[in-house]
Amino acid sequence: MTRAPSSCLATAGLGLALAAGLTGCVGEMEPTVPPLPTVRARPLTDIAFARTPERIERGRYLADAAIGCVLCHSERDERRPGAPPVAGREYAGVVLEEAEGYRLVAPNLTPDPETGAGAWSDDMLARAIREGVGHDGRALGGPMWWWSFRQLSDEDLASIVVYLRSLPPVRHALPPRILSAAQEAERARQAEPLLEPVPARNLADPIERGRYLIEVADCMGCHTAWEGSPNPGGFAGGNRISRGGHQSFSANLTPDPAALGGWTEAIFVGAMRQGRGGALDPIMPWAAYRGMTDEDLGAIYQTLRLAPPVRHWVNNSAPPTPCAVCGQEHGLGEKNVPPVFARVEVDLGPLTSYTGRFQLEGKTFWIEISVDESALFASEEGGPPIELVPVAGGRFEGRGLTSPIAFERDETGAVTALLTFELGPDRWERVR
Ligand code: HEC
Ligand code: HEC
Repeated sequence: MTRAPSSCLATAGLGLALAAGLTGCVGEMEPTVPPLPTVRARPLTDIAFARTPERIERGRYLADAAIGCVLCHSERDERRPGAPPVAGREYAGVVLEEAEGYRLVAPNLTPDPETGAGAWSDDMLARAIREGVGHDGRALGGPMWWWSFRQLSDEDLASIVVYLRSLPPVRHALPPRILSAAQEAERARQAEPLLEPVPARNLADPIERGRYLIEVADCMGCHTAWEGSPNPGGFAGGNRISRGGHQSFSANLTPDPAALGGWTEAIFVGAMRQGRGGALDPIMPWAAYRGMTDEDLGAIYQTLRLAPPVRHWVNNSAPPTPCAVCGQEHGLGEKNVPPVFARVEVDLGPLTSYTGRFQLEGKTFWIEISVDESALFASEEGGPPIELVPVAGGRFEGRGLTSPIAFERDETGAVTALLTFELGPDRWERVR
């Protein structure tokens, strides 16, 4: 599952920018800024992806529709529903946000040799997209959510690079980004080389296909209230996202009656295509997603049905009121009541058998399990310890957990792995 590497980065990642959000993050770090950590970058190779028409088509589909790279890397026409890219300026780059001592720039990716990517090698683009290191070796960060693009298969990555190469060059010089030393350090710490091949998933299976699309488009990053206190759960909405001076709380996408519970596939596909009659905030990249096939949108719908339902009403058309589920103020907040977990009495065995760190296979995210005399606690990515309440089915719930948790044991009874259930089970291997 694509979790954000840290709640802090998540907001920055999604916020299409908010200087305020980023400053908030920095404030949580040590007051003295340590020297800039070295960016973990693998050396560039001279790989050249074969330019085939199939790759151009696949790359176009992923970048323009399924992921929506184009909505960030282009000027947008705010007067049109969904704010699509300004015609003729696709991928020519844009200053996304500018404030005192801060400038966020989505670079020109068209093959213009002086102001765009014309002089960059294929691997410079490939490394930037999946490993968070720019052509010039600088660490990239939110809202360039490369940790989600990292899930792209090698073939899909090649397709995106080949597509970007096929664009008409647009001459558009942009100023450099400006970040504080702490923001630079945060990015540098996150960059992560990818040294193993990423095989294609089995896209013939609708759930595998849905998961893949949800992961690379980072629906979960935007649709989870990482900054809520507490976080109401994966895909449960309420993430406050700001762009160009206005804000919107993301919708709850879980199959609860408060969210998509009553939606048919046709309603869902319609919302993704028409943006609720054009009324859906352009922060939601539906101007891109509308270009997805019925088959892909259907697969996303079916996969989202697997998310644990969360009763969290969120609606941006209603006036903001305090919410007892996510601790923020948003539309329909007053309808929400804190969840009550149906605790079951079970013999958990020696609590210390659970303690340790668990890591999602092939990903960098981790969960730490700790204990006191009578209870288990989970901490996600260094966040606060959350008490685990045993519920039916061998699962544990906890206020602020991104997903319910379960444990796997080997034949000797030792806890070997942890399971989360954001879109069906994910296995987190014990690493210590
Ligand atoms: C939510 C906005 C957003 C989305 C979506 C997005 N980008 Fe970016 N991208 C950025 C920003 C901002 C930067 C610069 C980040 C920085 O300087 O830290 C960037 C940087 C890059 C770079 C590095 C350029 C260089 O200077 O070397 C590449 C390549 C790139 N993006 C490609 C893509 C591709 C391909 C996609 C889709 C798979 C994509 N981006 C999606 C915002 C975005
Ligand atoms: C950049 C952040 C962002 C990303 C990425 C994103 N969304 Fe959204 N989405 C939002 C916001 C914000 C809203 C609420 C907009 C509003 O209320 O006008 C929303 C609304 C929606 C809605 C409308 C729900 C309703 O109740 O009307 C659906 C459906 C949806 N998103 C699905 C998705 C899916 C599926 C993905 C991934 C393919 C996705 N979103 C990715 C930000 C995002």
